[in-house]
Amino acid sequence: MMRRLAAGNWKMNGTAESLGEAQALASDFPSPDCEILICPPATLLSRMAGTAAGTAIAVGGQDCHVNPSGAHTGDISAKMIADAGGTYVIVGHSERRSDHGESNAEIRAKAMATWSAGLAAIVCVGETQQEREDGRTIEVVRGQLEESVPDGATRQSTVVAYEPVWAIGTGKVPTLAEIAEVHADIRKELTARFGAEAQEFRLLYGGSVKPSNAQEIFGVPNVDGALVGGASLKADDFGMIVAELERA
Ligand code: 13P
Repeated sequence: MMRRLAAGNWKMNGTAESLGEAQALASDFPSPDCEILICPPATLLSRMAGTAAGTAIAVGGQDCHVNPSGAHTGDISAKMIADAGGTYVIVGHSERRSDHGESNAEIRAKAMATWSAGLAAIVCVGETQQEREDGRTIEVVRGQLEESVPDGATRQSTVVAYEPVWAIGTGKVPTLAEIAEVHADIRKELTARFGAEAQEFRLLYGGSVKPSNAQEIFGVPNVDGALVGGASLKADDFGMIVAELERA
């Protein structure tokens, strides 16, 4: 069985002083019952990997370029993330899709670039408010899955995060039944494509996860962890979420 995963996405937050949060988390969870990952901004990757070395905390990138190197000002490659000590890369986050116009095809290429660097990809999918209101959630998520998860995905190389766009940073969360419906469908789609191994892909829920709702979300079938934004910035809050995942 794969270990469940508590992943923190720091987005464009954090400077050197924030490394203390990772240090605190590491000392609170010397041998956790789940995997713990922090994806800091690129500027902190290398230093955080140093802070996390020898602890149970893994470090990852928030995005990567499709190429390993080249003339792409401002971008970083999966190979560079690996070089800095990262082991995961988030690809296709909705903020990348909306702020940078990333397509499913590009996200798929990024996931493959992540694998090429020997890292695991966390592929994000999720519907907008309008798409949910139009009753298109399942259709949209299926389309994103199909087009952004590359062939050849394995339980080691790939994690899928369901993040409804309208739930990100808003304090709004789908009902547990809504989360269950989407996660069951993601499992079904992955099983159709990848066979029995898909039972062991980690499926994360993301969008306004916090200490007060983590327990009930982790009780939903097919939720194998969380991708946490705001509440991952402070070791106290993220630690409470990790503790709930350990208990789940
Ligand atoms: P929040 O937890 O701040 O809603 O962000 C979720 C997210 O986008 C994680 O990738």
